[in-house]
Amino acid sequence: MSDEKSKVLVVDDDPGILKQLKWSLIDFDVVTANSRESALTQMRLHAPAVVTLDLGLPPDPANATEGLETLCGILALFPHTKVIVLTGNDDRTNALKAIDLGATDFFQKPVMPEMLTHFIHRALKIHRLEDENRRLNLLTPSVNNIIGSSEAMQRVIKMVDRIAKNNIATLLLGESGTGKEVLAKAIHTKSARSDKPFVAINCASIPENLLESELFGYEKGAFTGANKQTIGKIECANEGTLFLDEIGDMPLALQAKMLRFLQERKIERVGGRTEIAVDIRVICATHRNLNQMISQEQFREDLYYRINEICINIPALRERDSDVILLAKTLLVQFNKELKTRIKGFTPKALHALTSYEWPGNIRELQNKIKSAVIMSDNNYIDAIDLGIDEGTSDDEIELLRDIRLQAESKAIIRAYEICGCNMSKTAEQLGVTRPTLYSLIDKYQIAELLPDRSAS
Ligand SMILES: Nc1ncnc2c1ncn2[C@@H]1O[C@H](COP(=O)(O)OP(=O)(O)OP(=O)(O)O)[C@@H](O)[C@H]1O
Ligand SMILES: [Mg+2]
Repeated sequence: MSDEKSKVLVVDDDPGILKQLKWSLIDFDVVTANSRESALTQMRLHAPAVVTLDLGLPPDPANATEGLETLCGILALFPHTKVIVLTGNDDRTNALKAIDLGATDFFQKPVMPEMLTHFIHRALKIHRLEDENRRLNLLTPSVNNIIGSSEAMQRVIKMVDRIAKNNIATLLLGESGTGKEVLAKAIHTKSARSDKPFVAINCASIPENLLESELFGYEKGAFTGANKQTIGKIECANEGTLFLDEIGDMPLALQAKMLRFLQERKIERVGGRTEIAVDIRVICATHRNLNQMISQEQFREDLYYRINEICINIPALRERDSDVILLAKTLLVQFNKELKTRIKGFTPKALHALTSYEWPGNIRELQNKIKSAVIMSDNNYIDAIDLGIDEGTSDDEIELLRDIRLQAESKAIIRAYEICGCNMSKTAEQLGVTRPTLYSLIDKYQIAELLPDRSAS
């Protein structure tokens, strides 16, 4: 059964705590170590994804030096390990030092196993996602500028792979900033046309009266100001790919001309008489609802079927699980390089804000927020407030955390009491508190009536 559980290494010099965590972290296969040396041996033997590390280790348990050395030793051996550091109540300085050295998180003593279980699950999840992303990047080098290990994005990347090999007219649908242009380029790059031009035109940004000549080109004298023959985007894309962005904004009259071109694969320049054969692959994109536009007679149904031999629905960022964290971390590395800054990461509060925010502007908005946070932050770690999305961490959330802690502590006391045969002194000892403290906790949480048989203590 333990084969299915993730291995977790618990490092602490207190045999009582090791024992307590070994029996209480029931979700994991726990291995233990009580010194730097034994911790590194266990790492070599088991290579666990997550380690909890008490900073006060022998020979000088009152001091964090040995604990911090152990942290560095673990990360030198296995750099992707998620190390959760356990610190004393007032030891923020060493906790932050540990984070600077690469620890994932810190947890203040006394150890509450159920709270620690939450932390370990979260660290395991991040480890798994990062691992998956590293593997996917190795597997799919030609689309490795597209970040996304979520199931939703993996489906999209697989479609891109298949579609690229065929000359099929592709329609990309997605909200603003979801990566329509990036995917269009990926399809081109992975196709047999990759050494030919990729030409993009945004139908929404060119005035209606100019769009036709932009696309089809014009002959000298075709209209006032047409003083030389000019090749249009369609001809420029010959043998390559034409990306018609915001196709939903193409005027109806031009839609008819476009349809003709897609049927016959020939164009006539504006003011021209000869037909020119063009061999292009067409990819279209829009954030609009084309079906609705068809029913309102704003978009031609026949054109819709021409451009939509296959359709990729690009998920919004909020539908991509933890891709947002992967993207945020990658963007941070990029902006550190670009802006010559050395920000090390995100605070837990920022990570929470990143995952709970809705991202209406999708990846483009994420880019902007991270860039301005990198510029504005005075610290080693970006906080939620630097991202301008601090509102997620409301009083409600603090209240929720308090509730979780209360429930976790209550459960831990009840469980320890059962395991210690309803003996109050033993329970206090197991939990690392005095008997009076245990009584006051039982009063505070009002759990006296939930304890099995108090007469035995
Ligand atoms: N999966 C991804 N991985 C990494 N970067 C991405 C990804 N998707 C998009 N981006 C980046 O996000 C930005 C927006 O992408 P893109 O321009 O392709 O979106 P769009 O859907 O065309 O947006 P708009 O509707 O605003 O034109 C770009 O800078 C792009 O490089
Ligand atoms: Mg775009």
